[in-house]
Amino acid sequence: MNKQILLNKRPQKIMTSDDFKLEIVDIPKLKDGEVLLKNSYLSIDAGFRFWMNEGSGNNILPAMALGQPVQGIVLGTVIESKNPSYKQGDKLMTRSAWQEYSVITAENDTVYPLPTAWECDDSLYLGVLGETGMSAYIGTVDMGQLKQGDTALISAAAGAAGIVAGQIAKINGAKVIGITSSDQKSQKLINEFGFDRCLNYKSSTPLSELIADECPNGVDYYFDSVGGQMLEDAIANIAQNGRIALCGAIASYSSLEPQLGPKNLFNLVVRQASMKGLMTHYESDRYDEMRGQLFKWMQQGTLKNAESCFEGIEHAPAAFCGMFTGNNFGKTIIKL
Ligand SMILES: NC(=O)c1ccc[n+]([C@@H]2O[C@H](COP(=O)([O-])OP(=O)(O)OC[C@H]3O[C@@H](n4cnc5c(N)ncnc54)[C@H](OP(=O)(O)O)[C@@H]3O)[C@@H](O)[C@H]2O)c1
Repeated sequence: MNKQILLNKRPQKIMTSDDFKLEIVDIPKLKDGEVLLKNSYLSIDAGFRFWMNEGSGNNILPAMALGQPVQGIVLGTVIESKNPSYKQGDKLMTRSAWQEYSVITAENDTVYPLPTAWECDDSLYLGVLGETGMSAYIGTVDMGQLKQGDTALISAAAGAAGIVAGQIAKINGAKVIGITSSDQKSQKLINEFGFDRCLNYKSSTPLSELIADECPNGVDYYFDSVGGQMLEDAIANIAQNGRIALCGAIASYSSLEPQLGPKNLFNLVVRQASMKGLMTHYESDRYDEMRGQLFKWMQQGTLKNAESCFEGIEHAPAAFCGMFTGNNFGKTIIKL
């Protein structure tokens, strides 16, 4: 039998576990060209919240259908194959759904064999060596162009992408300031992950003022997972020739109304600063290069993995909701 998590209701501003439903169905029979995967991990990704909204479909994903399994990235082992490209025992990652078994159709063009070049736990390929880790890499290495003494400001610093971005910025010689929701997370980032300082965006002092106090010469690089007011606060403090990597916009995924952009974009003009989006999915030809460097840093001990791992598919809804209420630390995964 195949346990699945369905999208039961369209989540509103505050998402709850009731928006999801566990269902047990038969494991489907394979057609020619298809592969059956027994999943060992589900990747829980904040970005998928966006495609739960009505009419949210775009060139990356269609809007998720009500009553259908929640879309997400899985990692599993082939247990049956009617596709000559894959054999029993192959480990694959693919965009599929929150379920224990996935059928990969012949048309699915998001199937990646688990790399074998680096000896490590499979779960790392969903986190530090996965899309979130590589998003941090593209932002911080390629777009950050950091030099010794630069100031790097990292949003959602205790999340999967942010915690890697902060550590890469440190490796590249920057003073690293994280933004997070609690003093407990801040202490962990400073004591265990090498951040220099952290700002609590829930403090009574406006974040823009906290940034200005901490970064008197401005922010040379901002890694943005959040968008909204936080992006505006970073732009207010951007340094001359500063760089902003737009990785995500978690503050707006739950919003049912179109969001206004930052009101202070003219700051980018006068400070000759740049702001650019990134989409890791389109850089798959560079995955080996990026994973190679990330793994090397891990071996050297300058990059640490951080994971919130929950066991059992029934925990996927609560784990996902927790990413929007500050409950996770590092990469959130479900072990099946
Ligand atoms: N462009 C790409 O190719 C790509 C690929 C992967 C991920 N992403 C993006 O990267 C971002 C991080 O995703 P992830 O899956 O790694 O999640 P994550 O960072 O592990 O979890 C989300 C974090 O965001 C913070 N957060 C939640 N709501 C917030 C709000 N309203 N304001 C400020 N902070 C908030 C929470 O930390 P606190 O406790 O600090 O609030 C939480 O830990 C997302 O925006 C995602 O869409 C982009």
